[in-house]
Amino acid sequence: MSTIKFTVNGKAASVEADPAMPLLYALRDDLKLDNPHFGCGLAQCGACTVHLDGEPVRACVMPVSAAQGKAVVTISGLGTPDKPHPVQKAWVEEQVPQCGYCVNGWVMTSAAFLKKNPKASDAEIREALSGLKCRCGTHVSILRAVKRAQAMMA
Ligand code: FES
Ligand code: FES
Repeated sequence: MSTIKFTVNGKAASVEADPAMPLLYALRDDLKLDNPHFGCGLAQCGACTVHLDGEPVRACVMPVSAAQGKAVVTISGLGTPDKPHPVQKAWVEEQVPQCGYCVNGWVMTSAAFLKKNPKASDAEIREALSGLKCRCGTHVSILRAVKRAQAMMA
C-alpha cells in the first residue's frame, strides 16, 4: 500500500492504495465520485475518461500511482450547472443522452480535443472520438453537439 496524493477538481485528495490499482477505483470507491463510469474496464469504451493534467485518460487502466502530484478533473469539475462547459451545454441543447451511461467519455474527450484543436474538421473530430462507444446509437447527435460546442468555443 502507498499514499497517493493528487487533486480532484481543484481539491486535495489522498488515497491509501496499491499503486497499481486503477485510478477509476480510487475515484469511485475511495473518493465516492459517481462519475466517471465503469464500462468495459479494458480501455475500450471511454466511459471512465478523466483529464490528468489536461490530457484525457482512461481511468480504468491508468494506475492510481500515475496521478501522484497531478491534477485530475472529472466531468463534475469541468463546469457547474450554472456555468457549464460549452461541451456540457451543447450536450443539453442537442438533447444527446439516451441512457446517458457513455456521456462522460464523449464529453471529457471532446472537451480536451476541442481545447487543443479549436478548428478541427468533421473528419478530425470523428477520428478523435473514434475510440468511444455509445450503445444507444446517439452518434449523429453527438457530432452535432461537438460542432455546437466548437462554435461556442471559437
Ligand atoms: S471503462 Fe474504461 S474504457 Fe471502458
Ligand atoms: S446514451 Fe446510452 S450508451 Fe450512449
